[in-house]
Amino acid sequence: MKDLAGKTAFVTGAASGIGLGVATALAQAGVKVMLCDIEEDALDRAVAQLAATNADVAGTVADVSLKAELQAAAEATIARFGKVHVLVNNAGVGGGGDYGSWTDASWQWTIGVNLMSVVWGIEIFGPLIERHGEGGQIVSTASIAGLSGGVNPSYNVTKYGVVALSEGLRPTLAERGIGVSVLCPGFIRTDIMNSARHLPARFGETEEMNEGDTASEFARVAREAILHGIDPRYVGELVREGIENDWPYILTDTEFEPAVDERFANIKAGFDLIRDRVPAR
Ligand SMILES: NC(=O)c1ccc[n+]([C@@H]2O[C@H](COP(=O)([O-])OP(=O)(O)OC[C@H]3O[C@@H](n4cnc5c(N)ncnc54)[C@H](O)[C@@H]3O)[C@@H](O)[C@H]2O)c1
Repeated sequence: MKDLAGKTAFVTGAASGIGLGVATALAQAGVKVMLCDIEEDALDRAVAQLAATNADVAGTVADVSLKAELQAAAEATIARFGKVHVLVNNAGVGGGGDYGSWTDASWQWTIGVNLMSVVWGIEIFGPLIERHGEGGQIVSTASIAGLSGGVNPSYNVTKYGVVALSEGLRPTLAERGIGVSVLCPGFIRTDIMNSARHLPARFGETEEMNEGDTASEFARVAREAILHGIDPRYVGELVREGIENDWPYILTDTEFEPAVDERFANIKAGFDLIRDRVPAR
């Protein structure tokens, strides 16, 4: 989408961190932005902050892990702006901890926010973008953890899912005038390590999930790296550029490139183990 000015975007998780960075960069490029978030106070502040720069923005509260709420947010976007061209599926939470601290609720929460909301976002907004025939872009936030594993598997499962969904849809949606990008950030300075603040009450006991989220050595290292991470406003600018040029992968830095190489090398080594064998059919 070369000419962003005057187009409309819907951004989830837009009240904080990367989502706010994306909403800001798009608003500065003249895009009308509907900011969506579960956290009403932070959303109101983000909308007021952008509106003060004369940007044409509005906010809608939704828990994106509930399809009906995402549907209502889409309707609010059309009611306010008439059309939508860009969907940014960005809301996400840090995951349900490592082996030994899992609960069914923590898996459901993580999969619901990080993966199912992306599936539903595409289901709901895809036809709305197709409808006006002006083309569009879908950007979904995975993570570098969606390209190279590591500990924290419950989070990684959802992020691999977002990568698979984006890669799989890209050829299909290109034929319909919609570009598909997957954003795979490294460590970005946001509030992600404090994700349990949004744990919806329907998932019950929060203490265990807070514990799973914060107690491990991984969480300690990640917290430190995120504290000194990349500015989310820089990521917002990268996403704007990725939308303008239909980048398949929007990466933020090269810190984890060796980890991605190592993963591919391990997969290749698996092929080497069976290379000379003839499979029985
Ligand atoms: N910060 C990093 O280092 C990093 C790295 C890779 C990927 N990511 C991904 O970036 C995305 C944004 O996270 P962030 O780092 O900006 O964290 P953040 O906590 O600062 O922002 C996340 C936003 O999502 C909202 N949110 C959470 N649950 C929601 C729900 N159920 N419905 C609607 N909104 C909800 C939060 O209220 C918050 O405003 C996530 O998908 C995350 O997994 C972050």
